[in-house]
Formats: sequence, structure tokens, C-alpha cells
Amino acid sequence: MSATSFDDATITILGLGHIGLPTALGLAELGRHVIGADADAGKVELIRDGKPAFYEPGLDDLLSKHLQSGRFRPAVDVEEAVRAGSIIFICVGTPQKPSGEADLAQVEAVARVVARNLNGYKLIVEKSTVPAITAQWLKRTIVRYCPGSPSLGAGGAMTDPISPDFDVASNPEFLREGKALEDFFHPDRIVCGVESDRAREILTGLYRPLGCPLVMTDTSTSELIKHAANAFLSTKISFINMVSDLCEKVGADVTAVARGIGLDARIGRQFLDAGIGYGGYCFPKDLRAFIYLAGENGVDFSLLQEVERINQRRVEVFVRKVRQAIWNLAGKTLGVLGLAFKAGTDDIREAVSLKIIQALLDEGSILRLYDPQAMPNTQQVFPASTERITYCPSAYEAARGAQALLVLTEWEEFCQLDLAKVRDLMEVPIMVDGRNLFNPATVRQAGFEYFSMGRDGAGSSGLAARSGTTAA
Ligand code: UGA
Repeated sequence: MSATSFDDATITILGLGHIGLPTALGLAELGRHVIGADADAGKVELIRDGKPAFYEPGLDDLLSKHLQSGRFRPAVDVEEAVRAGSIIFICVGTPQKPSGEADLAQVEAVARVVARNLNGYKLIVEKSTVPAITAQWLKRTIVRYCPGSPSLGAGGAMTDPISPDFDVASNPEFLREGKALEDFFHPDRIVCGVESDRAREILTGLYRPLGCPLVMTDTSTSELIKHAANAFLSTKISFINMVSDLCEKVGADVTAVARGIGLDARIGRQFLDAGIGYGGYCFPKDLRAFIYLAGENGVDFSLLQEVERINQRRVEVFVRKVRQAIWNLAGKTLGVLGLAFKAGTDDIREAVSLKIIQALLDEGSILRLYDPQAMPNTQQVFPASTERITYCPSAYEAARGAQALLVLTEWEEFCQLDLAKVRDLMEVPIMVDGRNLFNPATVRQAGFEYFSMGRDGAGSSGLAARSGTTAA
């Protein structure tokens, strides 16, 4: 079968989370017919009603557009969705086990469903972040559980053993939450790990409209690229955070250092924003899975263990900064701006802000919290009824009566605040900016005592802005 015959092939996306849903809608926008299936019937119902289960800019509009165009069909019946598709993307979760190892139970379960429903050639594409050699396991599992497979034994075997017709490919996702659609339509590159010419041609045809470099490799290399990318980006963040600490000691400005080294094309400016550290569902988990994979294979990757340790210490670094700014934490009222693990999302999984909130509560502080999107999720962790926590309807309300204002997420909305109004609402105008979101001179001119990350040393000019954000 030629690749051209796959230009109209139905695509099935298994798993409608932060990766699956944007991918499904992105492919629908490229003109493909997409079925999106998820075992969580409640989630599928919401999506059918045009409501994604999470916040992602632009997603609601694209969802209603393609529910109407009919190019995107949500489905609860995963088996039927597999039978209907010729290209199957696996986008299910890969959480972590206590050891740090990736838990691939959902991936295996999907492989068995695929095996049971092979009704013609299918290309099975793993998009979930998985450790190297998972594609080999996928392939082996599909062969084993395919009806007629001798390895099913007497109980499962059919009379005529068949040779299943499928390929497995790896196509790791590099979408960032909060920018998922932008990243889908304007990727830096697309990586595909393939084992056959047919798989290569199908994926090349699928992604041709995006006009970006295609990196074609074998499946294990492709899987490793994803983990290496996230590990490297985490390393950049921990590196700049250590530089930030040093800047404070010698009176330098970390944002100027980031610019000074980042303009070197070999280094690059992105992911050199110092602050409270990285969080989210991907970096912490993927780093641990990569460390685990290295360890299992006898490779000493202690560099990455240090990256993780540095990141874990950011909570204490920040809390110490707050303590240095306001002295005792017990009984102090603190406004908190930002709960999501980053701007543009309502996701709080492994958010550093939550660890900081816990540390402040442990010290006896009274917190007034605000986030443009993540308050409902945060209330699941810190219920509104919790003593010493108030959820506020705006950043101004969070500042009301506070003895310090803490910035924990880099929301653009905070840059637009009327600082004079914020100052007047506070009991004591102190700001501790964990994201270097504000221009120090501007905040100080507005009458605040201002503390930030790696810019508080004696020689710090505070003139350089963080990457990609307009400082106030
Ligand atoms: C990350 C990768 O950037 C994506 O390419 C990848 O597809 C995704 O993981 C994944 O594996 O699914 P994401 O977790 O959405 O994306 O968020 P990032 O923008 O990478 O930020 C991660 C964390 O690092 C956030 O907490 C952010 O605030 C922090 N960060 C980022 C910094 O502290 N400093 C920076 O300079 C950049």
C-alpha cells in the first residue's frame, strides 16, 4: 500500500489529555479526519459538549470548530475507535512509580486493545513520553495478543494463526502546556522513529503541511531524543538558578548574565529564566525516568541527579528570601500571585508554588491566593475552608492587607497591574518576585521594597528583562 493512500486515512488518538486533545484538533485543522477516544467517559462527554477538561489557550475554539466540521469525533468505545483508524496515536499517561521508573501499564493496556482490533494495516505511533525500547515492547505485545498468535495459547488461539500487519513508530511530543497549539502548528522540528519505509512515508505525508525539519531515526533513538530534550532543558534551568544564587553573592544581575550568554547561538537564551525552579507533569517525572533508565543500564548520569537536587532546593531558597524580606513568617499575611506551575495553564501538578505554600503554612503564615486559572485545581489540594487560606477574586484582593506580595507564576496579567493601587491596598508594600517578572526599578519607583531572584546584589542594575515576557 502506498503512503498516498494514507492521505485520507482516519486517525485515531487514544487519550484526550494535554497532549492527545491538542494533537487531535491540530490534525483536524490540517484537514484530517480524527477520532479521539478516552476510557474516561466523563471526559469524553465534556469534550462532546465542547468543554476540554483543562485550560489551554485557543483549545475551546478549535474544539467547537471541529466538532462542527465533523473532522473531530470524540468516542468512548476505544476498541471501535481502534478499528476505525489506520493511524493510531497513543497519547495515554505515563505516570511514575515510586522508584522514578515510568509506569507503562496504560501503554501496555492500549497495545492489547490494538492487538485485539487489528482489522487491516495500522501504523501505531507512540506519542506519550516513554523510555527507550518501549516501541519494541509495544510491537512484541501486539504480536503476542493478536488473535491467532501462538503465544496466546490454547485459550486465546484461533485456528488459523495470522501474521499481524502493522508498524510501530515513535513520534515524541514537544508541545508546551499553555502554548500547545502554537507549538503544534509551528514546531521547531518533528522527530519520528520508524522501522519501515511505509511508516516513514505515512508520517512524512502527515507532517509535510507543517513545513518544519523532520528528524527520522530508529524508534529507540527517537524515544531517547524526547527524554534527552526534557533533561537538557531542566539542566539549563538548574544551571541558571545556581548562577542566580552566585549573582546575589557577588552583586551581579542574572537576567543580564542570561542575555549575555544566551546571545551566543551555541547556548541560546531560552530556558535561562532563573526563579523558583521547574515544575509540571513533565520535567520532574521525565528527569527521574531518564535517571532511572541510565541507572538500569549501568550509566552514571549523576549530573541529572544534581539537576534535580538543585531544583528541589529552590523552595527553601525562596522561602529564605521571604524570611529575609519580612523577618518572621508566623502570623504574617502574604498575598500570593500565581499557583499554576507556569503561565497559560490551570495545571498545578508538581507546581513549585504548592510546595512554597505548604512551607509558608508550616511556618504559620496567613495566605491570600490568586491565580487567573488554577484556583479550582488548587482548592482540591488546599481546600478553601482551610484555616489561614483565602482564595481571592483578583490580584488586587490578594494584595489587600498583605505584609508582602509573592509572585510565583509568570502570568502576563500580573505585569499589567496598577502598582500604585496594589501598594495602597497592602499593609506593607513588599514584593518578593520568584519569577523576575517585574522590572526592579519600576516596582521600587512605585514605592515597594522589591526582592527578586539573582538581581538583588549590590551591583545589580535590573535593566534586563526575562525572556519572552514584557516586564512592567
Ligand atoms: C515541557 C517541554 O518544554 C515540552 O517541550 C514538552 O513537550 C513537555 O514538557 C512534555 O514533555 O510534555 P511544559 O512542561 O509544558 O513543557 O512546560 P515548560 O514551558 O517546559 O516549563 C516547565 C517548567 O520550567 C515550568 O515550571 C516553568 O516555569 C519552568 N521554567 C521554564 C523555568 O523555571 N525557567 C525557564 O527559563 C523556563
